[in-house]
Amino acid sequence: MVCLGNICRSPMAKAILLKKLDEKNITWVEVDSAGTSDYHTGGKADYRTMESGKKHGIDLSNHRARQFSRRDFDMFDLIYAMDSENYSDILYQAGNEDEKQKVKLILNEIEPEANLSVPDPWFGGEKDFEKVFNMLDKACDIIIEKIETNNEV
Ligand code: 4NP
Repeated sequence: MVCLGNICRSPMAKAILLKKLDEKNITWVEVDSAGTSDYHTGGKADYRTMESGKKHGIDLSNHRARQFSRRDFDMFDLIYAMDSENYSDILYQAGNEDEKQKVKLILNEIEPEANLSVPDPWFGGEKDFEKVFNMLDKACDIIIEKIETNNEV
């Protein structure tokens, strides 16, 4: 799960997916998050991200931001970008076609090929964080469904 700062959208997406995997007793999927920027490397999730998680029974207090790196192409089969800018930033770092194929826009799970972006809630308020949570929750439900039916995404 990749966004810009790795303190709002992608930590939330990671935590939501992990919770759903845990609820389904799916143990073989590894999930992590990162930011395309290094603005917040080593920092905690935004307090509004933590508040929003708390409302939904998700604890984000252990999150520490890290920057996306080329190594992530080796570590992961799928790389979900939160918005179109993250998407092109990640794609730019891909070394070959296989790596490019790993990169997806997360909201295309809900509306395939619509290429919609998860809005950046950084300049927003509580309502915007809640909206983002609900979008990611829906996308993660579909990811889980795919994992359950195909044993892959
Ligand atoms: P995120 O939100 O990419 O969802 O973590 C942002 C967090 C910080 C900044 C921008 C977006 N920033 O410019 O510091």
